[in-house]
Amino acid sequence: MDPRRLSVLAHAHHPIAAPLSDESVRRLLDRAVVRGDERALDLGCGEAEWLLRALERHPRMLAEGVDIDGETLDRVRDEAERRGVADRLALHHMPAAEFTSARSFDLVLNIGASHAYGGLLPTLSAVREHLAPGGLVLVGEAFWEREPDPATRETLAGPCVWADLAGTVDQALADGWVPVYAHTSTLDEWDDYEWSWTGSLARWALDNPDHPASQDALKAAQQHRDQWLRGYRGVLGFVTLLLRRTVGG
Ligand SMILES: C[S@@+](CC[C@H](N)C(=O)[O-])C[C@H]1O[C@@H](n2cnc3c(N)ncnc32)[C@H](O)[C@@H]1O
Repeated sequence: MDPRRLSVLAHAHHPIAAPLSDESVRRLLDRAVVRGDERALDLGCGEAEWLLRALERHPRMLAEGVDIDGETLDRVRDEAERRGVADRLALHHMPAAEFTSARSFDLVLNIGASHAYGGLLPTLSAVREHLAPGGLVLVGEAFWEREPDPATRETLAGPCVWADLAGTVDQALADGWVPVYAHTSTLDEWDDYEWSWTGSLARWALDNPDHPASQDALKAAQQHRDQWLRGYRGVLGFVTLLLRRTVGG
């Protein structure tokens, strides 16, 4: 099955493509949007659920989203219309690294999409180019809660080099950033995310037994569930850091 189609089905009940509850997303956005008239940029926005929620809550905010997945952005346009925020949301179909803008942004997001730049530090350095003075960055990154077995490391991290939580924060500090807030995803949030992912996909397969992709979808749900329950449950962590530059940085 086409991986993008699979991801759409898997996220049917969890539009944020990361292990964060609605309450955690709301709390992070409350800390990230200070005045209510910020210009926000999401690099690797996916369904742009972070931006849509921020725009709904703050009628003077403007936002831009960038993603390489054009079909997803088409859905975001429809969803933005439906939620009455389309006139304040611009979408760009391109690799995040190619995005340029004449104006800088008060808030830049990159949640679960640092692979677009090849890791946390290249992401932070790219984000910096788009950030207005005194601006905030919301970056969501995986880390190792515990040492993974070699198969789990290979399957999940691929070329990404993840540290533990303290090491992840140290990387940001050494690069001239200060965490002004953060959220570390709980095991409950991971479980909700993964049960939603695997469950939504399996449910679609069971509801559509005659669809040519039904068996593939069921198999993908099972493989993903096995990798999670036998591999990275309690091993892979996720932290969403709200960062500012150090003074003079
Ligand atoms: C795990 S999803 C996260 C989506 C969103 N940030 C969220 O929290 O719901 C990662 C997203 O990054 C996008 N992506 C991957 N590589 C990219 C690149 N080079 N440039 C822009 N977007 C990219 C994918 O298409 C996908 O929508």
